[in-house]
Amino acid sequence: MPKMFKKKEAEEKIFKVKRGKFISRLRGMKDILPDEYKYWNLVIKKASELSKAYGFRRLETPILENLELYERSSGRASDLVTKEMFSFVDKNDDKIALRPEATPGLVRAYVEHGMFNLPQPVKLFWLGPVFRHDKPQAGRFRQFSQFNLETIGEPSPVADAELIALTYYFFSELQLEVAIQINSIGCALCRKEYLVKLDNFYKERGRRAKLCQTCKKRLAKNPLRLLDCKEKQCLEIAGEAPQIVDSLCDDCRNHFIKVLEYLDGLDIPYNLNPTLVRGLDYYNRTVFEIWPSSAEATDGKPAEAEALRNEQPRQNALGGGGRYDGLVEHSGGRPTEACGFAIGLERVILKIKEKNIPLKDEEKGDIFLAQLGDQARRKIMLLFEELRKSGLSVRQAFTKDSLKAQLEVANKMGVKYTLILGQKEIMDGTILIRDMESGIQEVIDYKKIAVELEKRLSNNK
Ligand code: HAM
Repeated sequence: MPKMFKKKEAEEKIFKVKRGKFISRLRGMKDILPDEYKYWNLVIKKASELSKAYGFRRLETPILENLELYERSSGRASDLVTKEMFSFVDKNDDKIALRPEATPGLVRAYVEHGMFNLPQPVKLFWLGPVFRHDKPQAGRFRQFSQFNLETIGEPSPVADAELIALTYYFFSELQLEVAIQINSIGCALCRKEYLVKLDNFYKERGRRAKLCQTCKKRLAKNPLRLLDCKEKQCLEIAGEAPQIVDSLCDDCRNHFIKVLEYLDGLDIPYNLNPTLVRGLDYYNRTVFEIWPSSAEATDGKPAEAEALRNEQPRQNALGGGGRYDGLVEHSGGRPTEACGFAIGLERVILKIKEKNIPLKDEEKGDIFLAQLGDQARRKIMLLFEELRKSGLSVRQAFTKDSLKAQLEVANKMGVKYTLILGQKEIMDGTILIRDMESGIQEVIDYKKIAVELEKRLSNNK
């Protein structure tokens, strides 16, 4: 067989790909499509602006960390660790996990990079994806993004109030109504006393027998969590339980009062919520959550958002956080007080969509450059770069040949003017300028394009 023929046959074999079964994305994971980015850009911009204004500096941590980091920080008995972690043993037999939250990794980074040597507090801004093997439903994903702020190395209640105020500004500047829920779960000392009271309460009058199966187990391992169980029978009993704020020691009570006073001073509305305890082990003193306000309008909402709204706001919190004064030391650092919060960005975006808040379409431009023929295309490609570099908002469709197709793209992009270059214009040293609203076309001197555009665009403002 001739050599040439063999080579061709081999190439055909390589490129003959069998059409395979379609593999879709994993359950609970989302693609973010180009049309969605206007929402993402808006919330990320707002988060970045606020963080910068209040002195938080951005930090990123790896998506993979040691599994033990979360077991030790978030809590071995927490739902996050026992049920929701994506963890596995890697090729070196190391137990690792996809981060289910950012706080343990941020505290690790604080200790590992010796940030305790910097002027305190260290204020950190973090934004990125987290992973939880949760049951997917409206507003609950297995990969989602959080915006976190953490103030590490600050015992003052001003820090708690500043963070709560920031969450409030974040939502109000996005025109979203929220209800801030706040409570204090005291320190290890006063909580110990409270837990005895709670234990006695649940043992009285056959209350234990009425609890859901999970709460029966929680009673021995994590009794505080009984207070925020979502089951109806448990909620009813929790409503009558002794309140932790009545058991706070003087220091914890004063701290809480100060936080509330600062919030009052800033006119920030909040609800004192005695059953708010949060599901992670590291919290002490102030805990808070941001719930969607139940007073929001209901018309014209997408089905997904409607389902989300109809569920209990507690399950659909837009954000949450609190103080974690023991976590840095527990993670191997010096005793260091800290507090922080995380906001779930997918839930915020759902709310923005639900409210139909008008957003600027960032893909839109002012000027479109159209060409007819290959010589004109080459010239227009150069002109495009020139105008783009001069700061003008220009758009193009170089791959299209027909003027009709190019004008369709220009219309979609909402441009004010289209410049059209053909063979005749190249010969004459001119270019056509088309007013997209009136459809009127004029011939202008090619050398005067920049001046003409500036004049017309400034008249148009
Ligand atoms: P978290 O309450 O577990 O707190 O999560 C914060 C926010 O993430 C929630 O309020 C919610 O908006 C969003 N979220 C949680 N699970 C999901 C999910 N499956 N799908 C979509 N969004 C979700 C923490 O993560 C703490 N590390 C917050 C913190 C920072 N505390 C102190 N510093």
